[in-house]
This record gives sequence, C-alpha cells and structure tokens, in this order.
Amino acid sequence: MDFQLTEEQLAVQAAAREFAQNELWAGVIERDEHQKFPAEQIKKMGELGFMGMMVSPEYGGGGMDTVSYVLAMEEISKVDASCSVIMSVNNSLVCWGLEKYGTEAQKQKYLPGLTSGEIIGAFALSEPEAGSDATMQRTTAEDKGDHYLLNGTKNWITNGTTASVYLVIAQTNAEAKHRGINVLIVDKGMEGFVTGPKENKLGIRGSDTCSLMFTDVKVPKENRIGDDGFGFKFAMKVLSGGRIGIAAQALGIASGAYELSLKYAQERQAFGVPISQHQAIQFKLADMATNIDAARLLCLQAAHDKDAHQDYTKSGAMAKLFASKVAMDTAVEAVQVHGGYGFVKEYHVERLMRDAKITQIYEGTSEIQKIVISREILK
Ligand code: CAA
Ligand code: FAD
Repeated sequence: MDFQLTEEQLAVQAAAREFAQNELWAGVIERDEHQKFPAEQIKKMGELGFMGMMVSPEYGGGGMDTVSYVLAMEEISKVDASCSVIMSVNNSLVCWGLEKYGTEAQKQKYLPGLTSGEIIGAFALSEPEAGSDATMQRTTAEDKGDHYLLNGTKNWITNGTTASVYLVIAQTNAEAKHRGINVLIVDKGMEGFVTGPKENKLGIRGSDTCSLMFTDVKVPKENRIGDDGFGFKFAMKVLSGGRIGIAAQALGIASGAYELSLKYAQERQAFGVPISQHQAIQFKLADMATNIDAARLLCLQAAHDKDAHQDYTKSGAMAKLFASKVAMDTAVEAVQVHGGYGFVKEYHVERLMRDAKITQIYEGTSEIQKIVISREILK
C-alpha cells in the first residue's frame, strides 16, 4: 500500500490549487449571486487541460489517471463548486462515456472540442418522473431505419443551456424494459430540440440547470453509442465513475469550509483569546479534519480501483455517500465557527453550505448509494 502521490499527481494538484485561488476566488460570490455561468473560467480550464483530464492525448486529452482527476476536483471545488460540476459532467460522464463506448468517428468528432473547453457536454438521464427510478424512461427514440425519432422531456440537466453536445437516454423498445433503452448523441440546434429556462437554485448557482424538450427530433443512427439496447447499461457504467467525481467535489467543499474555519478561528477573538483556544471550537475543527481525511481516503481508494481496472461501483458509491455527508456536516459547522459572519456572503461559508447539499442528491441520492452499496455487498 502506497500513500505517496507521484510527482505528476502533485503537480496536477498544485496547478489546480493555483488556478482556483488565482482565477476562481475573486468572482465566485458575484457568479453565485447572479447565477452567472463561468464561461471565461471554463474556457481557461479547457486551456489548462481540466476539461478532458483522463482522455487519451490522441483526442486532445491529458491522459491522466483518476487519482489526478480527484485531486484537481478537490482543489477547484474548494473555491467554486459550480465550476467543478461543469468539469465533472464534462470529464467523467460525457468524455469518459464517449471515449470508452463511442465509435472512432464519434470520438474524432466530439472529443477534441470537449477536451479543449471549446464546447461543453451534457448527460441527460433524469426526467420529470424518472429520477432515482431511472429505468422508467418516458422519452422515446423510435427506430425509423436510418434515424431515431426522439420525443420527450429531460429534467435538471447540468450544462443544459450551454452545452453543444448531449448524451440523451431514451426508450426504443418498451417491451424490453431497461434492455430496450438507447443512448443518442444530440447536437444543439437539431430541429425540434429546445431547452427550458435556467432553474433558480439553492446552490451551485453558477452552473446552469434546465429541462430539455424533444419534439420529433431526427437523430441519425450513427449517433447511437454502443449496440441497440445498451443505453441503460451505459448510463449505469458512466455513473459508477461519475460518482467518484462528485465525491471529490464534496470533499473539496468540505476542505474549503474547513480551511476557512481554521483560519478564522485563529483570528477571531472572544473572551480575550482567539476562539481557537475554546475547546468547543477545537473539537469542531478536530471532527472536521478527521472526517475530511476519511473522505479523502475513500475518494482516493475509489480512484485507485478505477485506475487499477478493479471494480469501483461499490467504492465510488461509498466515497460519494460518505464525502457528501462530510461536506454537509462540515459546511454547517463552518458557519457555526464563523458566528454571525458565517451567515453573510462575504465569508464564503454560507455558499459552501448551500453548495454542499446537492452532492447528496445528484448522480444518485444518498439513499440510492446505499442501495448500490448493499447490492454489491450482498451479491
Ligand atoms: N454497472 C453496469 N450495469 C449496471 C450497474 C452498474 N453499476 N448497475 C445496474 N446495472 C445494470 C444491471 O445489471 C441490470 O442489467 P441486466 O438486467 O441486463 O443485468 C440493469 O442495469 C438494471 O439494474 P437494476 O435491476 O439494478 O435496476 P434498478 O431499477 O433496480 O435501479 C439503480 C438501479 C442503481 C437504483 C439505478 O436506477 C440508479 O442508479 N438510479 C439513480 C439514477 C442516477 O444516479 N441519476 C443520476 C443522473 S446524472 C446526474 O445527476 C448528473 C449530475 O447531477 C451532475
Ligand atoms: P426522486 O427519485 O423522486 O427521490 C425523492 C426522494 O425519495 C429522495 O430522497 C430519494 O432518495 C428517495 N427515494 C427514491 N427512491 C427510493 C428508494 N428506492 N429507496 C429509498 N429512497 C428512495 N440528472 C441528469 O440526468 N443529468 C444531469 O446533468 C443532472 N444534473 C442535476 C443538477 C441539479 C442541480 C439537480 C438538482 C439534479 C440534477 N440531475 C441531473 C437529476 C438528479 O440526478 C436527480 O434529481 C436525482 O437522481 C434524484 O431524482 P429525483 O429528483 O427525481 O428524486
């Protein structure tokens, strides 16, 4: 067992930390306040190689391992969890899914743009009546010979209004249930495809989330990923890895809240001493630090499993389940450590608290992670 990071991994971590501190910190409160999409920042993230970290250099990616991806996700999420969800969807759902299961033509067409940050991708599984119960797809992709006719609505889609390419899950053969589901690549601008208004959210307000509506959209057959009926398996396989990214996002939110609390506790005076000298505050910091270290180990374990080509469905779900709880608990305590100052925007911790909540909901709620973990344990 080796707990040492390699020189390359340390360099990626340092580059992500520097970028987050120098380029994301300054405008993060304003982007959150006005739900402003971080277009410029995402462009820079593409230039620095953060949008297609694990993609092979052949398609413009960084050819990095999942451990490096986790380290970068943590650093970026410490400062701006909106940027990190955009990065996570692009890297671990869209790019990974395309590179792993796409045809050579699909990879050549989409990956260079997605990895450079020139275009952004979205992943559309959830529907108004199919969230946790993801097999209940009502969006249909009717087989018309040389194309599919796509009809239906997707809900809550990250990068919904800003993406250029969407991986859309839809039912082709209802009788075959989840084995009759396909995944299609839909380009922005295809006739009959429109996006809804941006949702007004509690957290990750810089990222855009909206519904997608498809009315008789003609999607060429060559836009299907994998064999006929592979769509649901595709979604599950992609999400097994995606959950490692969201676990790392949660870890970053927790670390960000902890680092701010540690600093504040040593500066703020009460009863003639820094509040860090009061045991109640010391114990909060001790709990935060311990939980964060445990969450980080679970994230790195899951990333290591994926890099070592071992099964990572269980370890990824465990990392997400645990790290998202640590994010929520740590951010709530961070507001407490800051007292009244924690309740206003300038001190950042109230935003981290609002951002933390989503990590317990998307890419499978905490209850769904427990289903995934218990099935893996019992099988
Ligand atoms: N890898 C490969 N295949 C898998 C799999 C995995 N991890 N998990 C399930 N499958 C396969 C099963 O083998 C089965 O296929 P066969 O019958 O051919 O063997 C098929 O999928 C159906 O599996 P289940 O019977 O287990 O299906 P279920 O209805 O009981 O549901 C579930 C399983 C885990 C609850 C699943 O529905 C699920 O993950 N729900 C949560 C959905 C989710 O995470 N949505 C996230 C949307 S994306 C997002 O949120 C992005 C973002 O915010 C940033
Ligand atoms: P439901 O499935 O209705 O769940 C409601 C409650 O019931 C939850 O607490 C859930 O845990 C619980 N529950 C449901 N079933 C069970 C069960 N069997 N056992 C125990 N408890 C259960 N989706 C995408 O496809 N792509 C995206 O890019 C995307 N981005 C998102 C961004 C945001 C900001 C949000 C809010 C959501 C996003 N989603 C996306 C959707 C997200 O994945 C779903 O919201 C999530 O999977 C839960 O589905 P639901 O909202 O329908 O809740």
